[in-house]
Amino acid sequence: MKLLLTGGAGYIGSHVAALAEREGHSVTIVDDLSTGIANRIPRPVVDINLASTESVERLSRLMRETEFDAVIHLAARKQVGQSVEIPEQYFLDNIGGLANLLLAMREHDVKKLVFSSSAATYGMPTLDLVDEDYPGVPINPYGQTKLAGEWMVKNAAAWGLRGVNLRYFNVAGSESKKLADTAELNLIPIAIAQLKRGEQPIVFGTDYPTPDGSCIRDYVHVEDLAKAHLMAVGYLDRPVQEFATFNVGTGQGASVLEVLEELREASGIEFEEVLADRRPGDPPRLVANTNRIEKMLGFKASFGLKEIVKSAWDAAN
Ligand SMILES: NC(=O)c1ccc[n+]([C@@H]2O[C@H](COP(=O)([O-])OP(=O)(O)OC[C@H]3O[C@@H](n4cnc5c(N)ncnc54)[C@H](O)[C@@H]3O)[C@@H](O)[C@H]2O)c1
Repeated sequence: MKLLLTGGAGYIGSHVAALAEREGHSVTIVDDLSTGIANRIPRPVVDINLASTESVERLSRLMRETEFDAVIHLAARKQVGQSVEIPEQYFLDNIGGLANLLLAMREHDVKKLVFSSSAATYGMPTLDLVDEDYPGVPINPYGQTKLAGEWMVKNAAAWGLRGVNLRYFNVAGSESKKLADTAELNLIPIAIAQLKRGEQPIVFGTDYPTPDGSCIRDYVHVEDLAKAHLMAVGYLDRPVQEFATFNVGTGQGASVLEVLEELREASGIEFEEVLADRRPGDPPRLVANTNRIEKMLGFKASFGLKEIVKSAWDAAN
């Protein structure tokens, strides 16, 4: 298949690109390298800022040159805290970028899209295992841009788009050093970076209503997530798509303290974590109900927390 992949120089995108190429697909990457790293991928990217005014024309040129079978759209800003500080920029990049992409796809009759959404669309869910029909209300501009993006994908069915929204839970791990998550934005890369600097990892909140008092999340290995994208492209080939939105997680929760215990083992460093107050806006528990993706796409995560943390540690060292 000929795939157009946006955000392919990013942490997740580079794993999707590597897997797609191993599976024999031809992959064209569009990325403005704002947070991406060029040497994660073997060849130059097409440098387009999707949110820029000229992007529809530049994407159109690309689509005239190559008849893409499907688009996988990952390019976006993803920092929750930053989205609160500069919400306009998040709406411009995440929603404007997707709108430009859809305009070009519509013009060139490219009718299959996998969209990178997030569990941030759920806000503060009260279910133990949150399913796709849960009426979540995002609690920050980042989550809002992802939910609005899902609506855009669904609305484009009016002109024949077949779209899938993949709601990623907590993505971590790496297939290699080259593709490691180098941004210190999520628990595992933050804690690894702290250990490497000789600092102690910090636990924000130890009085949540969870067994050990720290927050619980669903950690999914980035290689499993990459696989889900290609399965989603396959799903779009079926004559009928019953669902447009899928959780991508493991269905297993792990607390911050459990993750740090795995990190103690993977690193061999006997650190003491620093216990700190809660941060605003952290749901106590966010774990995926994975029934839909298992049933409809045949997706089941193959890596657990141990492999995730070990691969992240190995990739960073
Ligand atoms: N990492 C996670 O845990 C997580 C969880 C849920 C959803 N997501 C989503 O997954 C996607 C990829 O995340 P990631 O962790 O790989 O982040 P990343 O920052 O490593 O990758 C994003 C890529 O998109 C590119 N990009 C950003 N804005 C662009 C624009 N306007 N035009 C062209 N390229 C642009 C960046 O240069 C980068 O290469 C994002 O959409 C993110 O919101 C990530």
